[in-house]
Amino acid sequence: MSALEMSAETGQVIPMKQQTAQAQESDHAPGSPPARSTGGQPAYFSCWDVHAYYGESYIVQGVSFDVREGEIVALLGRNGAGKTSTLRAIARVDDPQLRHGEIWLDHKPLHEMKSNEAAQNGIGLVPEDRRIIQGLTVEENIKLAQIAPPVGWSIERIYDLFPRLGERRKQEGTTLSGGEQQMLAIGRALARDVKLLLLDEPYEGLAPVIVQEIEKTLEQIKTLGMTTIIVEQNAIAALHLADRAIILDMGQVVFDGTAQDVLDDEDLRQQYLAI
Ligand SMILES: Nc1ncnc2c1ncn2[C@@H]1O[C@H](COP(=O)(O)OP(=O)(O)O)[C@@H](O)[C@H]1O
Ligand SMILES: [Mg+2]
Repeated sequence: MSALEMSAETGQVIPMKQQTAQAQESDHAPGSPPARSTGGQPAYFSCWDVHAYYGESYIVQGVSFDVREGEIVALLGRNGAGKTSTLRAIARVDDPQLRHGEIWLDHKPLHEMKSNEAAQNGIGLVPEDRRIIQGLTVEENIKLAQIAPPVGWSIERIYDLFPRLGERRKQEGTTLSGGEQQMLAIGRALARDVKLLLLDEPYEGLAPVIVQEIEKTLEQIKTLGMTTIIVEQNAIAALHLADRAIILDMGQVVFDGTAQDVLDDEDLRQQYLAI
């Protein structure tokens, strides 16, 4: 068991300086995952000492955390804490620019990739604005995601998970309700061979009843063993779904522990989540 796993179980806050030192101590050949200085096996997903910038704006300031296979991690923090920027850095989109750090998924170095390669290697980012393609039906939106290999779930399987999408398969995607568009965005991510699903505020702007519906679906996806990072302003909902929680504040990790620890710690929630 690695030191980080132990801390995950005890809910102990990992000092940033310590994490940074661990990441910088790693000495490894290019193309192979670095062994942790703590001696543990590299996790399924790891980001180590990630620093990312929008131009000269220094936003993601040395973020490190692990995600185990099949785990759901809630990435939380106040508005502007750097959650979206962290997801975007992981997905290797152009902005913010990754200037330092390593990001590994299933032994593949995402930090050496561009966003399309990261997607081919299993990153499935569902962005906050959902990006449903205009002029295409629900089914065409999904099929478009399956054009390039590696293909993930079949269309039928996606409709089994989201029957509403099946009912509306011929409808133009952008005319769906907000909740249905969110379902389509998640379905489209699953249509690719996803190893790590990154959900940025999937409940945003949705009615409570729709949130519950999507929550149920995410529970189902979890049962199937999908490894997921969920960013949510609705922290309580995310914590009920998640196994673990990472809290960001001003671009740094200030807490890494179990979701239950955050639910139980009112002071921590007030300090960093204002709930
Ligand atoms: N495109 C951008 N250019 C410059 N600064 C940005 C950009 N996007 C976000 N930021 C800044 O980065 C910080 C973190 O933003 P973000 O990652 O969106 O936070 P969160 O998702 O936690 O609300 C904020 O201070 C925000 O103003
Ligand atoms: Mg955000």
